[in-house]
Amino acid sequence: MSQIYASFKSIGAYVPEKILSNADLETMVDTTDEWILKRTGIKERHIAADDEVTSDMGAKAARLAIDRADIDKEEIDLVLCATVTPDYFNMPSTACIISDKLGIKNVQAFDISAACSGFVYLLTVAKAFVESGMKKNVLIVGAEKFSSIVDYTDRSTCILFGDGAGAAIISATSKKEEAFVDVHASADGSYADFLVTPAPGTVNPVSQKVLDEGLQYVQMKGNETFKLAVKTLTKDVKEILAKNEINSDEIPHFIPHQANYRIIKAVGDALKMKEEQVVLTVGKYGNTSAASIPMAINDIWESGRLQNGELMLLDTFGGGLTWASALLPFAGKAK
Ligand code: UT7
Repeated sequence: MSQIYASFKSIGAYVPEKILSNADLETMVDTTDEWILKRTGIKERHIAADDEVTSDMGAKAARLAIDRADIDKEEIDLVLCATVTPDYFNMPSTACIISDKLGIKNVQAFDISAACSGFVYLLTVAKAFVESGMKKNVLIVGAEKFSSIVDYTDRSTCILFGDGAGAAIISATSKKEEAFVDVHASADGSYADFLVTPAPGTVNPVSQKVLDEGLQYVQMKGNETFKLAVKTLTKDVKEILAKNEINSDEIPHFIPHQANYRIIKAVGDALKMKEEQVVLTVGKYGNTSAASIPMAINDIWESGRLQNGELMLLDTFGGGLTWASALLPFAGKAK
């Protein structure tokens, strides 16, 4: 029997219409366009409509990914969603709702929670399901309505985050040249307080205290997270390249999590990446957490920059703390 590999067949994304610019934020909190641009590289971010929920965005991205993979939705046998802003905090999972919105019936569906690392975590899960022979076509979705947990009076966080979704189809293949080269994911829960949404949950069930203290909003130790992100990502990405005996100049597309331009630049410089190798969307989308990497992949696909067989190097870092990296060829059709 021939070996089965996981391959990255297609990409899709959805960006909500409404834009929140730095100029808009200047009217909301004590900040300036200049500060935001200099410290983060962000010019604007997109915000979902009031009645637009995470599964709506995820389903829109997923429809594109399914169309572009040239498969019928009936061929999908697993639906996974990475999000920390689910439609419902307890149940049902956003993956179940996305499946229903797509008319995908009777297949396994569940969410994972790995914050900004969610999409790359999903690659590890999809790879395991596909390469064990349990599933053939996995729909993976990273979708976030981060605006629903942002305190728009907190200048240290509200300037960073945006909403959106990205999706991909991961399929079984017997062709080694289409296979994921490597994926790696890790976590360290001792840094849980670096990035946390204190409520709702068993630590802080919904109560008047939660609302009075704003515990439903994301809190971040920004500077500490920044420093650890640079250190961890640089080490992680160097390791995945060394382990697979690939030089950074052989990577046409370095697609990092889009949290802060300065983090991306520091890691890119440590790897001696040239500007044209590094995919940057943080300026126009901000940090969209689990949606950030697939939205960035979609950007280069839609602009015709991503060709069949080209290597992508992904890296990400987020709440948990979690981090992950992946090295894989794009095994789908170019635009
Ligand atoms: O996606 C998951 C992972 N997340 C990240 O990787 C985010 C990592 N962190 C960051 O991107 C950066 O730490 C921030 C952009 C959040 C902050 O940049 P920083 O260079 O680390 O600034 P800082 O937190 O050290 O703050 C410097 C100063 C402070 O004022 P003082 O104490 O020096 O007077 C802040 O109060 O900047 C002030 N500040 C602001 N000033 C204007 C913080 N936010 C703002 C703001 N506008 N929006």
